[in-house]
Amino acid sequence: MHHALITGANRGLGLEHARQLLDRGWHISAAVRDPDAATELRALPVGTGKLDIHAYDAADPESAEALAKVVTGPVDLLFANAGMMAPETRKFGRAAGAAMVEEFKVNTIAPLALVEAFVDQVAQSEMKVIALQSSRMGSIRENGSGAAYGYRGSKAALNAIGKSLSVDLKDRGIVVLILHPGWVKTDMGGPNGQLTVQESVSGQLDLIARAYGNPVMSGRFYHVSGQDLPW
Ligand SMILES: NC(=O)c1ccc[n+]([C@@H]2O[C@H](COP(=O)([O-])OP(=O)(O)OC[C@H]3O[C@@H](n4cnc5c(N)ncnc54)[C@H](OP(=O)(O)O)[C@@H]3O)[C@@H](O)[C@H]2O)c1
Repeated sequence: MHHALITGANRGLGLEHARQLLDRGWHISAAVRDPDAATELRALPVGTGKLDIHAYDAADPESAEALAKVVTGPVDLLFANAGMMAPETRKFGRAAGAAMVEEFKVNTIAPLALVEAFVDQVAQSEMKVIALQSSRMGSIRENGSGAAYGYRGSKAALNAIGKSLSVDLKDRGIVVLILHPGWVKTDMGGPNGQLTVQESVSGQLDLIARAYGNPVMSGRFYHVSGQDLPW
């Protein structure tokens, strides 16, 4: 049975990843801020799969190491999905401040801490895939509308980290995907998003399946459609 660890699996894209992978018979370790409040996650049909739910706060740099003490065994897919967009850091004027520090902790530092804590378990697995949930808004070339200082900056920095990880983990057979899910109808994406969570997640899972044993995909920034995005 393949095993995925997914952060932010209680709602939005993370919840749908858990749903679709359980449906395929995977073992899911779901890492969420408040396990008691994760009612939709708990209600997912497990079928032939397996679901464990663990407490995890991406804003706490020690949380990944604590998670690695309770999530044991090989991890085929390590999915750093949890993310945030702080309204305070959107507009020029007073963007620099505590909210931006929080955004960098959650969007940038936490995914790296997760990989550092779980790299041996990923290397021991069959698939050896790490997925970083980035955003097209982290593309410097595609920034034609400005603003979103904390979100754009934290995702651009995540992309740089993902590229370094792909180089450093290559010899261990690990493929690192840097992903843009599309503009998706979630709490973050809002009701005008162009994709449903089901469409986005099935596209992302296709990319992840292609990445298995395919090192040429490592360290690339992918739109959910499969196209490369510019840095
Ligand atoms: N939706 C889009 O159009 C879009 C586009 C590009 C990229 N993305 C990226 O996709 C990922 C998922 O976004 P989404 O659209 O599913 O957003 P969402 O519905 O707002 O879900 C965000 C998830 O991240 C979790 N999270 C936030 N801060 C956390 C923390 N400190 N510790 C643990 N978990 C935390 C949330 O948990 P709580 O419930 O505890 O807050 C929730 O599970 C994010 O990385 C986002 O940047 C989304």
